[in-house]
Amino acid sequence: MSAALPDFPWDLLEPAKAVAAAHPDGLVDLSIGTPVDPVPALIRAALAEASDAPGYPLTAGTPALRTAIAEWLARTCGASGKLGVLPTIGSKELVAWLPTLLGVGPGDVVVIPQVCYPTYEVGVRLAGAEVVRADSLTALGPDPRVKLVWINSPSNPTGRVLPAAHLRKVVDWARERGAVVVSDECYLTLGWDETPVSVLADEVCGGDYTGVVSVHSLSKRSNLAGYRAGFLGGDPALIAELLAVRKHAGMIVPAPVQAAMVAALGDETHVADQRALYAARRESLREALLKAGFEIEHSAAGLYLWSTRGEDCWATVDWLAQRGILAAPGAFYGPSAARHVRIALTATDERVAAAVARLTA
Ligand SMILES: Cc1ncc(COP(=O)(O)O)c(C=O)c1O
Repeated sequence: MSAALPDFPWDLLEPAKAVAAAHPDGLVDLSIGTPVDPVPALIRAALAEASDAPGYPLTAGTPALRTAIAEWLARTCGASGKLGVLPTIGSKELVAWLPTLLGVGPGDVVVIPQVCYPTYEVGVRLAGAEVVRADSLTALGPDPRVKLVWINSPSNPTGRVLPAAHLRKVVDWARERGAVVVSDECYLTLGWDETPVSVLADEVCGGDYTGVVSVHSLSKRSNLAGYRAGFLGGDPALIAELLAVRKHAGMIVPAPVQAAMVAALGDETHVADQRALYAARRESLREALLKAGFEIEHSAAGLYLWSTRGEDCWATVDWLAQRGILAAPGAFYGPSAARHVRIALTATDERVAAAVARLTA
């Protein structure tokens, strides 16, 4: 089965990593968006308190978690209609299995963004369907094989934010064809130069979520990547179908993590504190990259600076590695991104200061 999947691209970065790690002041790894700051104390306390969990948890989530998700979606996404909700074991497993869980398969087409998180394509290949990369739906024409359209705003890796009018067009286009729109909104709460809009917002869906699902994650918002805590909100019928299949497949969020999610969703103070840390790191890195001659595109939201030196991405990866800095080559994210690198904001203040010093030396 793994032969049907793309090569795991991170192995290709090993030589640059070895060069960067040889820097006398050590490696600054800005290649992966993995949180480095502590898990907020109130979330750890909720996890610990729920650790006596001998019985099987509910795949649908505890009533407390379902309420917390629904309230958060209404508050943060501006969704006034009746939503289906469902916890997931982080969002990566959902991204990888969603086409399969929805019965998408051979002969079907799934649309993914031109430049995107690689797991969308993995999920389509696992299902045996065909991938089409497109940002503009007009280019697709009236293809009746399209069963699913992925959108991702704010985008990983580009940090691009899609306006409400664009989201509405995608939803209208998909509804006319009976396709499902899935909007990955893992970076929704990390808007800098623009305020990201959820596909669930009333200005997009008007409270009717037919054929629409949004995907959320607490990995970045609440530093919970290690807990594996994500959730869905959207079309109640689609979510009920996903729940039915996931129950059979044992895709269950552990009970202590469900309790931790309730605590995380009920608190915005830690979110604001974490945002402030990222905002400061973003500003320092942005200025240093510009001084070093980089151009930064999009990057209006999310945890990455989408940067270019106007050359092949691997040349830029090497240039940065010589300075002890590791970045992700744009080529990992799509064939049209070969002249950019993705620079993550997820490093400690100390490591970000080291990168800034090296970039501006
Ligand atoms: C766009 C996007 N979606 C989904 C994920 C998966 O996140 P998680 O599985 O931690 O929720 C990531 C992780 O970086 C991502 O960038």
